[in-house]
Amino acid sequence: MATHTGGLTLEKSKGRKEREGGGPKTVEVRGLTRKYDDRAVVDNLDLSIQPGEFVALLGKSGSGKSTLLRALAGLDYGVEGDGELVVPENVSVVFQDSRLLPWARVLDNVLLGLRGADERGRESLAEVGLAGREKAWPNELSGGEQQRVALARSLVREPALLLADEPFGALDALTRLKMHVLLRKLCAAHQPAVLLVTHDVDESIVLADRVIVLDEGRIVAEESIDLAQPRSPADPGFAAVRTKLLDALGVSL
Ligand SMILES: Nc1ncnc2c1ncn2[C@@H]1O[C@H](COP(=O)(O)OP(=O)(O)O)[C@@H](O)[C@H]1O
Ligand SMILES: [Mg+2]
Repeated sequence: MATHTGGLTLEKSKGRKEREGGGPKTVEVRGLTRKYDDRAVVDNLDLSIQPGEFVALLGKSGSGKSTLLRALAGLDYGVEGDGELVVPENVSVVFQDSRLLPWARVLDNVLLGLRGADERGRESLAEVGLAGREKAWPNELSGGEQQRVALARSLVREPALLLADEPFGALDALTRLKMHVLLRKLCAAHQPAVLLVTHDVDESIVLADRVIVLDEGRIVAEESIDLAQPRSPADPGFAAVRTKLLDALGVSL
């Protein structure tokens, strides 16, 4: 399916697209630009994500992270450019707040719009550690539990691409660490390509195969993270990557 958004064609591919020179890609963005009042907040950006690859997107506030994510989610009809924007048809999005429907029980929130999938919904809840909470109301859950439900709701759809915009930003440090472990486990099981927006440098290094730094709508640094899992901030290799990324973010220690 192709949608015209400004000068750019948003192509939603069912399968994985073969590109010349490279392997199949889940996301292929060329020359993406988004302007507000003539100011480019995403500026002629190129980005490819491979199937199953976990990419973290770092950048200070206002650097264009959420704008890029919205464009990839197909939620923004104001993007321009003469390049291409290829994303899979099956994309799930997770935000900082869980966006659960308060009047729907947990299992119904997971299944939202899916019919005849009760069993899969229950399995997804079990996967995120919430077996037995199917009938709970969202406001009976902690913030971390609500984000678990949001993850279950995303992954029950087996997305080819998971987009997450600071999904752990509102959680306390300990809950956040637990969510990192959970997200890694879920990604190993379901293998979606992931684009995770975060401003937490350590979170990006713990989770991602590749970290990209955005500044004023442009990619200003990119690091492949070749450290073995599980990754520890105490590892010298970890510290070396952290220094490079902080540098790219304009923070010198
Ligand atoms: N709907 C909008 N109208 C006008 N400006 C916007 C709108 N959305 C975002 N912006 C501007 O675009 C820039 C990038 O925003 P955003 O992508 O939300 O940044 P980030 O997620 O990196 O903090 C900011 O300067 C923001 O003010
Ligand atoms: Mg944002």
